[in-house]
Amino acid sequence: MRSIISITDLSPEELGALMATADDIIARPQEYAERMKHKKLATLFYEPSTRTRLSFEAAMYELGGQVIGFSEAASSSAAKGESVADTVRTISCYADIIAMRHPKEGAPMVAAMNASVPVINSGDGGHNHPTQTLADLYTIKREKGHLDGLNVGVCGDLKFGRTVHSLIEAMSRYDGVQFTMISPEELKVPSYVKQHLKNRQIPYTQTTDFVSALPQIDILYMTRVQRERFFNEDDYVRLKDSYVLTPQMLTGAKEDLIIMHPLPRVNEISVAIDRDPRACYFKQVLYGKYMRMALILMLLEEKR
Ligand code: NCD
Repeated sequence: MRSIISITDLSPEELGALMATADDIIARPQEYAERMKHKKLATLFYEPSTRTRLSFEAAMYELGGQVIGFSEAASSSAAKGESVADTVRTISCYADIIAMRHPKEGAPMVAAMNASVPVINSGDGGHNHPTQTLADLYTIKREKGHLDGLNVGVCGDLKFGRTVHSLIEAMSRYDGVQFTMISPEELKVPSYVKQHLKNRQIPYTQTTDFVSALPQIDILYMTRVQRERFFNEDDYVRLKDSYVLTPQMLTGAKEDLIIMHPLPRVNEISVAIDRDPRACYFKQVLYGKYMRMALILMLLEEKR
């Protein structure tokens, strides 16, 4: 039995295998339609979500399984003061696998230590979001054909944006990858992420100048400023529109650039970009569902 708390809980070989499974699910969906028959997924979401929770649910249904869960802490016994440890001991009696999102960093790790079924971190505070990274890696693989030799540009809230932290960890394991990190001074990546890059001698640049950085980038990963993690609303208001991608800004960008965003979008990408063939953020949503199907299969079939 095994949980996924960080993207590095999966080796690059396993990531490759998950992507191969996702390809096969797309090619032969009928082969998978009953694979999780009589299995239950519990989605324990203590924070808002549209894509991640519904993508997990759709993934489980498409595998023939069933879903139970809650979508806000207020409707669970957390509102009465129950600990995460006790909640997951309980849910382990009902479900075969748990997907958990929590505002506190480390909560899914505590869940994994106390559950008797696999736990998948579906976003913990400003820390990690490994299954979004599965969607991101698969999008890059499908759209570019490979994961190595890329200049990955991450832009926006690099401090609180958990998807960025997991993506950097994941991409730094492929050869020849470098990072261009674009953010306001106050929203730079946390020092542990920078340390991770330094330890592995992976080239990166940090800048506030989006337009000058754009022409070198192969993958542009835009993010929302994470309002819910700010201590004060004035800072959020001042920083929220630091970077807004518009069609004019793409003039100097590569023809084969791909533009990604974990979504939800607030104002970071002008809707006019949606018509640009380089925009991949809605494809990313669909790819995410296939990767979650592949992950559920891996964890539950491994367990068996
Ligand atoms: C992201 C998250 O929850 O971290 N959303 C998602 O799961 N696709 C990004 C965000 O909320 O900005």
